[in-house]
Amino acid sequence: MTIKNIAVLTSGGDAPGMNAAIRAVVLAAHHYALPTIGFFSGYNGLIEASSTLLTPASVNGIIHRGGTILKSARCPAMLTEQGLKSAAATLRKEQIDALIVIGGDGSFNGLLALNKYWSGAIIGIPGTIDNDIDGTDFTIGFSTAVNTGIEAIDKIRDTAEAFERIFIVEVMGRRSGHITFNVGIASAAEQILSFENFSQADEQEKLSHLAKEIKQAQHNRHASYIIVIAENLWPGGAVQLAKQLKQTANIDCTACILGYIQRGGSPVAKDRILATKMGVAAVQALIAGKNNVMIGERNNQLLTVPLDVAVQHKEKVSESLVSAQESILALTAQ
Ligand code: F6P
Repeated sequence: MTIKNIAVLTSGGDAPGMNAAIRAVVLAAHHYALPTIGFFSGYNGLIEASSTLLTPASVNGIIHRGGTILKSARCPAMLTEQGLKSAAATLRKEQIDALIVIGGDGSFNGLLALNKYWSGAIIGIPGTIDNDIDGTDFTIGFSTAVNTGIEAIDKIRDTAEAFERIFIVEVMGRRSGHITFNVGIASAAEQILSFENFSQADEQEKLSHLAKEIKQAQHNRHASYIIVIAENLWPGGAVQLAKQLKQTANIDCTACILGYIQRGGSPVAKDRILATKMGVAAVQALIAGKNNVMIGERNNQLLTVPLDVAVQHKEKVSESLVSAQESILALTAQ
């Protein structure tokens, strides 16, 4: 199929670097003399036919900005036949031949579903802070989110150290532990609790283990103690864990939920560069006749991955990282 008109949208949780990816798509498309339409607010823009022509001027001065100039949304209508048909109708009306979606697994599933009602080419660019997409070492936004988490914990550490206090810091990541483990290791957390080393069946055992570790550390060191915990892991989250440590072992902890500060902010160099490489590669992949794929990067090499493979959630946090934390780095009671 000859590509004449490209569309791009950002969908799902915004991630730092999405703007850099939009810019790269628009500039690459312009280089190959292809007009680019940007749809607003994720798939809602397709359903409601809300779009704008994107030119090199429209993407000037956005590479350093967090969020997304196209806005984003989660779009439950894409789970319905009616929503998918409306989205497909807009694409046909606008004579779009190829759609590039920058987002995470939910967005890619939307793209796969849309493909049943629309025959244009589809390409995904992995944009999510969670890094929970298969077939790529990193997703756009992950590095910035990790750096933001580290910066925040470095600051919390100052107070924790001054008061010899225990903090439980909850980080985002949906149901994956990439942010948790990377932030935990890089901020020298005394404990990391994530999907890779905790299951809810072991709650009581983990609770008494933690209480023992904390008491021992307080007794030996008189220092700060930081537990980094993944969201959606502990029943009731960090706040509940703090309550349980108080109730069962009389340990005072401060729960701190980092939440959305991890999703915002100016993208770090790594995300800007990854997003730029992926945006250019997405347009080139379309021109080369590729369809139904995501742009990924493995060992610094760009590649394409079938979209249905990218959403399988088979790739976990590297075992070496988990075992280094568990067996060497975590503070253990002597
Ligand atoms: O996928 C990105 C993310 O920020 C996750 O880390 C988090 O669980 C989720 O989105 C929150 O999504 P929402 O803002 O839609 O509640």
